Amino acid sequence: MNRITKPKPAAARKKNPVNSVNLVFQTRPLVPALLHWFAQNARNLPWRRTRDPYAIWVSEIMLQQTQVKTVIPYWERWLRELPDIAALAAAPPEKIHKLWEGLGYYTRVRNMQKAAQQIVADHAGQFPRDFDAILALPGVGRYTAGAICSIAFNQPTPILDGNVIRVLTRVFGIASDPREKQTNAHLWQLAEELVVIAARRPCASRLTPRASHFNQSMMELGALICTPRNPQCEICPVKKLCVAHRENRIAELP
Ligand code: ADE
Repeated sequence: MNRITKPKPAAARKKNPVNSVNLVFQTRPLVPALLHWFAQNARNLPWRRTRDPYAIWVSEIMLQQTQVKTVIPYWERWLRELPDIAALAAAPPEKIHKLWEGLGYYTRVRNMQKAAQQIVADHAGQFPRDFDAILALPGVGRYTAGAICSIAFNQPTPILDGNVIRVLTRVFGIASDPREKQTNAHLWQLAEELVVIAARRPCASRLTPRASHFNQSMMELGALICTPRNPQCEICPVKKLCVAHRENRIAELP
């Protein structure tokens, strides 16, 4: 899903993507409402207690096909056994295979070791901060690069996964198929405009990493409230802004 629309190279990406600007403007209160809700309701997940890009990358790769509650013990053991990029780059393949055993989709773990070796060779063992450099790592697509840049480095890079797609299509009342190229590109653009607004927004606490928390708030809303079936609209922090809720179209979107 996240690979359907390839991001343009940095130089070609527009600073202010337009045509959904009005839409986003109308929904501007979405950003503070989600940030506030996330501050009060975020789950206390172990990868939320670190800003280490390596640890966040590991969590995002594990979470690609696996549920949060399954990932937690795997992530903790992985970080104990392979605490940094150098350790992963040098680990015997049997060791990483063992640490991954049970998670499935083994290409993910093979790509991770290749990526760690690439970081050692090309970036002196330091996790790159640049979006395009992260995107160039094996196994890293647009979603994962955006998640690492925003969560670890608080950069205003968009993310779009199944949870975020559900939140955006419902809130903005987007009825076209999110897998279709144009709709997918539109959703990425909305996600970008919103995270840029979040990053620029003055905030009561200067310490809040707003791009990071905004992106995570959309994932969290999709995981906890705006679920595929039986969403909990009564307690949703953005129900007043939500087109699908207002028009009683929750069941049909996305
Ligand atoms: N799913 C994908 N990334 C996640 C994250 N960082 N936290 C919780 N769930 C996720």
